[in-house]
This record gives sequence, structure tokens and C-alpha cells, in this order.
Amino acid sequence: MSNENAVIIDNGSYECKAQIANKDFSRQQLRSMVKEPKKGSYECTAFIQETFSLKYPFENGFVVDMDIMEKIWDQILINVVGSNQDQYPVILSVAQAQPKKFKEKAIQLFFESYDVSSFYLISGATLQLYNRGKFTGVVVDSGYGITQSTPIFDGFSLPHTICKNNVSGSALTEYFIRIMTELGVYFNSYSEQNIANQIKEQFCYVSENYEVEIEKFNHCLPHELPDGNCIQIRDQRIRCPELLFQPLLIGLNQPGIHELIIQSIKKSDLDLRKYLFQNIILVGGTTQLLGFNQRLINELTKLTPLSIKPKMDDSSDKIFSVLDGAKLLLGISSFQSMWIERSLYDEYGPSIVNRYCWG
Ligand SMILES: Nc1ncnc2c1ncn2[C@@H]1O[C@H](COP(=O)(O)OP(=O)(O)OP(=O)(O)O)[C@@H](O)[C@H]1O
Ligand SMILES: [Mg+2]
Repeated sequence: MSNENAVIIDNGSYECKAQIANKDFSRQQLRSMVKEPKKGSYECTAFIQETFSLKYPFENGFVVDMDIMEKIWDQILINVVGSNQDQYPVILSVAQAQPKKFKEKAIQLFFESYDVSSFYLISGATLQLYNRGKFTGVVVDSGYGITQSTPIFDGFSLPHTICKNNVSGSALTEYFIRIMTELGVYFNSYSEQNIANQIKEQFCYVSENYEVEIEKFNHCLPHELPDGNCIQIRDQRIRCPELLFQPLLIGLNQPGIHELIIQSIKKSDLDLRKYLFQNIILVGGTTQLLGFNQRLINELTKLTPLSIKPKMDDSSDKIFSVLDGAKLLLGISSFQSMWIERSLYDEYGPSIVNRYCWG
């Protein structure tokens, strides 16, 4: 069986990304939602009319509606492989610690509905570590629905050490929309919320010293909206991303991202901790916020022993690193024996996924 025509899917809760392994030009991104037209049938699209209701399969990074998920997989597979009738293998990358039931339903769909030749399910964190050429490190992923810190040792994640919170890109955008109402600016409809998201990405930044900066904050950034109206953005620019470090700002009694990292490393073996502190891999769209790295280093340094200097690897593409990591995995000769082939699936059924795929 050839790995070259394998389809890789990064099942992100903001965007599902996919490609054929040896064809970077086949790379596709699809918002992880479907619209429900008035007729009642589902359709995926990049252009959403306000009259449609939007359906999301994810809650806090985990799939909660398999029917909607299936519609998104239908669409992304059409976009990537077109009408190609040949069988192909699939690597599905998902967030850590997925329920067994989800994994079983996924393998069942891929073999029985999409007729794949073989299947493998793996965590995005592991693939992103491979993509940095490492097998041991802590992957800190802050994307859309969830922020997770995942220590990985020799290529395998350690489930009891994973720490997560619900503050990520979607929470930041919601909070930004909320605090912009203080200035009399309202982002209500879906398209307006998309504009708010873009403003967040473009103008918000993580303050290096929040308590000091917020006290004397007096800049006012004018920004013209697509309808020609001009809004003034003030300290919302730093208050919004501060949520990553202080979830309590929205009443969430959860650790900030820096504390998640410390907690997950402290749950790892004592002799591994120093190495983990020096191999922190930052991934996910939200970690692209301006100023994020410097603030994170500052916070981690405050919380680690003096003899340890935390080091972060922020080098590669943050959006497609799962796909790139999967391409590397496919190139490893020993991976060939890790595929769940159809014959194995036919013999053992969907539960085989929980025996084979736990990385
Ligand atoms: N430059 C940027 N600055 C701030 N946020 C950004 C930037 N680019 C993307 N984002 C945010 O990153 C999020 C999407 O990240 P990503 O593509 O990693 O998510 P995902 O993989 O689909 O979701 P998840 O892994 O959480 O299920 C969105 O909330 C988006 O607004
Ligand atoms: Mg992701």
C-alpha cells in the first residue's frame, strides 16, 4: 500500500484542514460548521447567508454532534480527492483525550461510508511535535475551542499529564465582542462577528506587563469598518488576550495558559521535567497573537526554579503543522505496520481503534 496518496485530516474546531500527503496543492481549509438552508438539507459553504442557521459539531474542542461532523468530512473529502474513486488511506488527527465512543464512530464512518483502504487516528499534539523533529517535549496548543498542554515522551503522550482550559480563540472573540459594547460598538450577526474576529487577530496584543499597562493605557486606535463607520479601539486591545493568562476575567475559575504548562510538567516524571521546560512547542492560531511569546516566557520564568530557563520553539507554521507532522510520520518506515487495515477492522470491529491508536 502506498502512503503517498494518504489523505490527512486535521479535525480542528475552527477549521478542518486536509490534503493528500504528497500533494501540497490539494491542501484545503473548511470552517468547521454547516449551514442549514430553509429547505432543511445541510450544505457546507464559505459564504454564509444570515438567513441560514449555523450548526457546529464541536464544543470546547470536542465533537458533540457526529451527524454534523460527517457533513464536514463529506465536504472536505470531496474538496481534497474530488470524484476520485480509488481507495485511499486516511490519517485523522484529533484533539487529545477524545472519548472512546467518538474514535469508534469515526473509524466506522471512514471504513463503512468512505470505504477507505486503511485508517489511523492520532493526536494533533503528537504530530506537531514530530513536525519540529522531536519525540519528547510539551506541546501547547491554543486554537479555537480549547487550550491544551500535552507532555509527550518518546513519541507518546502521557494522558494523566495533559492539562486544559476552555480559553482559546472563540472565547477571546466572544470576550472582545462583549467589551467592545462598552464603546457602543455591537457585533451581532455572523458576518459582524467575523469582522470582530479579524479585528482581534489584527489589533489585539498580549501585554508584557498587564497590570502596569492597563493603568496608564491611553492609546486610541481608529479603525474603519466595511460600512465606512469608524470605531475607536482602546484598552480592549490588551484586555481581550489577557484572558489567556487570567480566565477569571470572564469568571472562569481555571488556570491560565502559563499555569497549565507548569501543572502538566509537574505531573510528568521528575527526571523529565527539566527537559520538558526547555522543549515547549507553541502551536495553534491563538498563539500567533503579538507579544504572546514574550509574556509566556516571563510568566513561566517566574514560576520555575532559577536553575531552569524555559525555552519555547515557535518556529514553524502554526496552522498547518499537523498536516506537515503527518507527512513526516508517513515517511517513517515503521509507521507502515501501524495502519489499521480493512481486514483488521473487519475482524475486530470499531473497538480496534482504541487498541491501535493511542498516541
Ligand atoms: N494572527 C492571529 N492572532 C490571533 N488569533 C489568531 C490569529 N490567527 C488565527 N487566530 C485564531 O486562531 C483560531 C484558529 O486556530 P486553529 O486553526 O489552530 O484552530 P483549530 O485547529 O481549528 O481549532 P482547535 O485545535 O482548537 O480545535 C481562531 O480563533 C483564530 O481567530
Ligand atoms: Mg487545532
